Amino acid sequence: MTLETEHDLLALQRIGKIVANCLQHMAQTMEPGMTTAELDSCATRFLAEHGAESAPRKVYNFPGTTCISVNEAVAHGIPGLQKLAPGDLVNIDVSAVLDGYYADTGASFIVPPAPPLKEAICQATQEALEAAIGAARAGLSLQVIGQSIERVARKHKMTVIENLGSHGVGRGLHEEPRFIPPIFDPKERRRLHENQVITIEPFLSNGARQVDTARDGWTLLTPRPYLAAQYEHTMVITKGRPLILTLPDRSA
Ligand code: CO
Ligand code: CO
Repeated sequence: MTLETEHDLLALQRIGKIVANCLQHMAQTMEPGMTTAELDSCATRFLAEHGAESAPRKVYNFPGTTCISVNEAVAHGIPGLQKLAPGDLVNIDVSAVLDGYYADTGASFIVPPAPPLKEAICQATQEALEAAIGAARAGLSLQVIGQSIERVARKHKMTVIENLGSHGVGRGLHEEPRFIPPIFDPKERRRLHENQVITIEPFLSNGARQVDTARDGWTLLTPRPYLAAQYEHTMVITKGRPLILTLPDRSA
């Protein structure tokens, strides 16, 4: 969506804060031995306490409140009986709706102790998100996002998952521009504009360039033996640095 009123901004800031705080609460609760369903139930309670609804459940009938994806599962993992173990790479993606406004955030975490490769993938992916946020400005081509992500990946000798993009958000979970390419795409002609609300969510890997849907119909898997991490913020595009809507109240 494109912000039109002060109310649009306030409403998005409200739901942005809720999903960010929910993600942080889950990260702090996560511990070895806990199942992903137990971790998801923290989010169910948290969102209910704040009057928000799970966006994937509402929009896509996803069988969970949040998407929790462990190790070779990269995204859209269904919370279930899998128990978290030391060294697991866990992606949590929280998106929710309040009063008709949607926000979307995600991050990858490692259950300690962190294996060096997983740590490196997480750090590079965070750097890619930062670079893309730093490059996104009203008036520029959408290409700057993919270009920035790709540059950071290359610097760290990593790959970008090319079939997972960033997207417009606000009045729906996924809106125009629907697929913002995560790599440089010469065919991309669309531009960023002022007050446009989008996510940026790079997925970096130690070798994979694609993910495939698992037999459960939801989980997106890297081809073994590759791993991937994702970090995602919802933001408003401005003439300067984007206004990030999904920062938690306190940094973890
Ligand atoms: Co998300
Ligand atoms: Co998203």
